[in-house]
Amino acid sequence: MKALVYRGPHEVTVEDRPDPTVQAPTDAVIRITTTNICGSDLHMYEGRTSVEEGKILGHENMGVVEAVGDAVTRIRVGDRVSVPFNIACGTCRNCAHGWTSFCLRTNPTEGMDGAAYGYANMGPYDGGQAEYLRVPYADFNLLHLPPGTEHENDFTMLSDIFPTGWHGTELAGQAPGDTVAVFGAGPVGLMAAHSALIKGADRVFVVDKEPDRLAMAEKIGGLPINFADGDPVQQIMDATDGVGADCGVEAVGFQAHDPSGDEHPELVLDNLVDVVRSTGGIGVVGVYVPQDPGAPDKKAQQGRIGWQYGTFFSKGQRMGTGQCPVMRYNRQLRDLIIAGRARPSFLVSHELPLAQAPEAYGHFDRRDQGWTKVLLHPGG
Ligand SMILES: NC(=O)c1ccc[n+]([C@@H]2O[C@H](COP(=O)([O-])OP(=O)(O)OC[C@H]3O[C@@H](n4cnc5c(N)ncnc54)[C@H](O)[C@@H]3O)[C@@H](O)[C@H]2O)c1
Ligand SMILES: [Zn+2]
Ligand SMILES: [Zn+2]
Repeated sequence: MKALVYRGPHEVTVEDRPDPTVQAPTDAVIRITTTNICGSDLHMYEGRTSVEEGKILGHENMGVVEAVGDAVTRIRVGDRVSVPFNIACGTCRNCAHGWTSFCLRTNPTEGMDGAAYGYANMGPYDGGQAEYLRVPYADFNLLHLPPGTEHENDFTMLSDIFPTGWHGTELAGQAPGDTVAVFGAGPVGLMAAHSALIKGADRVFVVDKEPDRLAMAEKIGGLPINFADGDPVQQIMDATDGVGADCGVEAVGFQAHDPSGDEHPELVLDNLVDVVRSTGGIGVVGVYVPQDPGAPDKKAQQGRIGWQYGTFFSKGQRMGTGQCPVMRYNRQLRDLIIAGRARPSFLVSHELPLAQAPEAYGHFDRRDQGWTKVLLHPGG
């Protein structure tokens, strides 16, 4: 099969790889119909993780079941399915409590709970930016979708970013009528804004500096804040008579930067602590890493980020963090799509064959105007 492989910083290639097979009786093999490029892939693409050369990337996968192992009884060959990016066993303590993103069994990496396809530190699993993908514990992990091709570009957001955006608002403790501040208008931030509005937010501020992404936030009902035009905290304070937001979502991650592009990993955390009112919640779904050899200072290289914890404490705020447990939300979000109440496909900017993935990575990585979300269709 053809697959998109990491070869080193800023270098990915499409190569021939053996087709995946059923290795355990609980496995399935999926023929990929749509697989997306994610902002998380860019941390690897830029050489800011320890991902191995030769790894097939891709954790946002959907498709049709091609084969199943003998122990798979719920999922059948021919089923159309969404593949959550988490690889979960379904029976460990964390899985049993709904925290599939911290499965205790599927990731052999020392000190890391939780596994994923094609991702640094998340276990030895190939990704799905390829024609086929092996899915462990298929009965537990896979989500059924209605047969056919309807809503393909909406359903493809169910493997990661729609649940992740929703999770950001859950971690923030958002309630109907809240004013929400979302930092980052990348795909995850836009999904958090979409989720907040579905959940009855009063106002949703969306902060970024990319005009095309801010325009998209405005189109779905958000209030764009361009941090290149001045301090985003001050802009939101001015727009709320000095009250600030009831809660906030961090959808940027450890490569947060200032308008000139210089990285400051503490910047968005500090902004959120300042802009969220006392006792408010902050949901951090942007990724931070335990070690970051490419960080701007020595402490950040060791994962020690100097944000204003003292003010956070004094304001009695709460913070939730981590990878999204997709299965907590994906059934309900699928049904909101079918009911016409959610339309996460609004952010799709490009649909390309797998062969064009390397150039798409380049455009998406530079945040080139108009490259908001790339969908790959390996079948052509
Ligand atoms: N927790 C999870 O389960 C999960 C899942 C998917 C993605 N993620 C992470 O979410 C983050 C966002 O993903 P994405 O796909 O939207 O990526 P992205 O890189 O396309 O979007 C990030 C956006 O943040 C903006 N930004 C940078 N500095 C900023 C600042 N100081 N203030 C406001 N905005 C700023 C950038 O301009 C960009 O538009 C990444 O860190 C990704 O790894 C986490
Ligand atoms: Zn993703
Ligand atoms: Zn588990």
